[in-house]
Amino acid sequence: MKQRAKPIWLLGIILLLVACSPDTERESIKPEKGPPSPKEEEPIRIGFSMDTLLEERWLKDRDLFKEAVEALGAEVEIFAANGDDALQISQAERLIQSGVDVLVIVPHNAEATAAIVHKAHLAGIQVIAYDRLVKNSDLDLYVSFDNEQVGEMQAKAITELVPKGNYVIIGGAITDNNAHLLKKGVFKVLRPYIENGDINIIYDQWTKDWTPVNANANMEEALRTTNLQIDAVIAANDATAGGVIEALEAKGLAGQIPVAGQDADLAGVQRIVKGTQTMTVYKPIHMLSEEVAKLAVSMAKGENINAGQKVKNGKIEVPSVLLTPIPVNKSNLNTTVITDGFHSEEEVYQE
Ligand code: GAL
Repeated sequence: MKQRAKPIWLLGIILLLVACSPDTERESIKPEKGPPSPKEEEPIRIGFSMDTLLEERWLKDRDLFKEAVEALGAEVEIFAANGDDALQISQAERLIQSGVDVLVIVPHNAEATAAIVHKAHLAGIQVIAYDRLVKNSDLDLYVSFDNEQVGEMQAKAITELVPKGNYVIIGGAITDNNAHLLKKGVFKVLRPYIENGDINIIYDQWTKDWTPVNANANMEEALRTTNLQIDAVIAANDATAGGVIEALEAKGLAGQIPVAGQDADLAGVQRIVKGTQTMTVYKPIHMLSEEVAKLAVSMAKGENINAGQKVKNGKIEVPSVLLTPIPVNKSNLNTTVITDGFHSEEEVYQE
């Protein structure tokens, strides 16, 4: 069959017309470029490297931080190392390699995690320390509660009840900068009492990894070595206070010796109701997680961060935001922890 001849002359004229038309018209036949529409933009990704999820408060931190980041339209990838320094570093490396926009870290070890800050910076990623400071590094931002004030609140509450006597200090983990800040706050209040001889520090020990088991062993040692001559205990948090109170219970002393804690953990608050723990320090976690989420997303967008305070970390003065903790005892439990929905009334007052 004979094929029909193609009108090549017609195609030539069309191409010539297109080639000679003004630039603006030529643009219009090209596929559209320019900035991508918001729908096509990749969401901001935040990496969250946590020390542990083996304690009540950190489960709250994880959930509330995720919620806060997602409410801002960003994504978060979370790892927890459960107290293992090498694992925390390798998990952070994975987050860095995956190209997160900002890395948020709760360090297990204040010193060891400086390596993470260094590696993130090599990849052009800024780092925020969440709740706990990373020492000796070029950390970009630190957001926490005023931990020294937590210690002051504990010591004030206990010295009001026991202005004279033998004190036991059950510290937090020596590897956590917060434990040092707490002790600083505690001793700031106790110093005048110690100097005038009213208060004796008869036992003062750190608690490895903040665990109730280690705090319990420390408290047993304190009871043994002092022949039960103890008038008050300041424990670094509610987990350690739990271990302390177990040791006191074993000697029939629970409820007779004031004990301070921190975190407003459910078990701690229940012990306050029961009368075996004197006070705790409530830190509204939603404030911390929302603040960090907001600042992390701003950082990822390259916006200026408004952090009013500075905290020395041994290398630089880190721009910081320090939130205010709240002392809680039986008298204000309802108007703080319960009103805030941190724990429900049913949980707190259950038999
Ligand atoms: C601290 C923190 C406390 C407590 C403790 C143990 O760094 O500030 O709230 O939970 O760790 O995890």
